[in-house]
Amino acid sequence: MQKMKTILITGSNGLTGQKIIYALRGRKDVHCIATSKGANRTKAKDGYTYESLDITSHEEITALFEKYKPHVLINTAAMTNVDACEVQKEDCLKMNVQAVEYMISACKKHSTHFIHLSTDFVFDGNKGSAYSETDKPNPESFYSQSKYDGELLLQKSDLKWAILRTIIIYGVVDDNQRSNLVLWTKNSLEKKQSIKVITDQFRAPTLAEDLADACVQAAMKGATGIYHVSGEETKSILEWVNITADFFQLDKSVIIPVTTASLNQPAKRPPVTGFVIDKARRDLDFRPHTFMEGLQIVKEQLANLK
Ligand SMILES: NC(=O)c1ccc[n+]([C@@H]2O[C@H](COP(=O)([O-])OP(=O)(O)OC[C@H]3O[C@@H](n4cnc5c(N)ncnc54)[C@H](OP(=O)(O)O)[C@@H]3O)[C@@H](O)[C@H]2O)c1
Repeated sequence: MQKMKTILITGSNGLTGQKIIYALRGRKDVHCIATSKGANRTKAKDGYTYESLDITSHEEITALFEKYKPHVLINTAAMTNVDACEVQKEDCLKMNVQAVEYMISACKKHSTHFIHLSTDFVFDGNKGSAYSETDKPNPESFYSQSKYDGELLLQKSDLKWAILRTIIIYGVVDDNQRSNLVLWTKNSLEKKQSIKVITDQFRAPTLAEDLADACVQAAMKGATGIYHVSGEETKSILEWVNITADFFQLDKSVIIPVTTASLNQPAKRPPVTGFVIDKARRDLDFRPHTFMEGLQIVKEQLANLK
């Protein structure tokens, strides 16, 4: 008989974390321990265990690992606001680097497989085409550097680890509080609020369900190493916004195309990313939805929230 796997998820109130709960809850071969800071905001409450966990507390991490002795940790919690990281550097380091150190030490003690999420922002975006796992990172913002430092901690540990890098995650969270490219576009245009949209940054958006499935596959298959996990199509942010507006039949006249330079944001962004996802296809059975399929899923989920 297959052994039951205990899988601990951090940041389970977030977009990726919540989708992982939905992918795992009720599985007979998995005990899913969902954790996030504060109360549980995921609508479904059965089929998994919820515990409050602040990943910046070494004591809390140690105690939770003692209690559950997880076989796998999936760390989705992070400080993800790129401009906030540029300003609140201490907070960024606590979440994206120091907390990873705490989790590594807990994983060492319990021989836990550590699955960590990272970002296309570890690259400078000057290659001009899709990045593969063997391309050399060159982080250019505080957030990017913090995520890369977290990666390096794992790579230097003698743990069993996997790093899943991803790009612009979109989807619907139960409490509908978190915004992302698709929801920002839809919500703004519905209110006829004008939005400034970047013309010269190119990305491959990732449906949260697809990323969650890749995390689950990595956990169940015991995958190790770096994986690039994203949608397959790379287009400018403006093109993605236009496609979203057309899909939801919204007026595009309030969209103001702008260049990166004109926005003067605190953090530098890579101009062109996008990933080669062959390794994830091969090892994790990764089959991402197209953006149009993703939009349809988002539409249905929003209808079900009402
Ligand atoms: N979002 C993107 O487009 C994107 C792109 C590339 C890579 N990534 C990476 O992908 C991962 C997942 O991103 P995501 O967008 O799914 O994240 P998210 O929606 O921002 O979720 C992160 C979760 O972590 C929780 N959290 C905050 N502080 C915490 C703490 N001290 N202890 C425990 N939990 C805490 C947050 O709680 P609250 O909800 O209560 O604040 C939130 O629910 C991150 O590692 C990120 O760097 C994201």
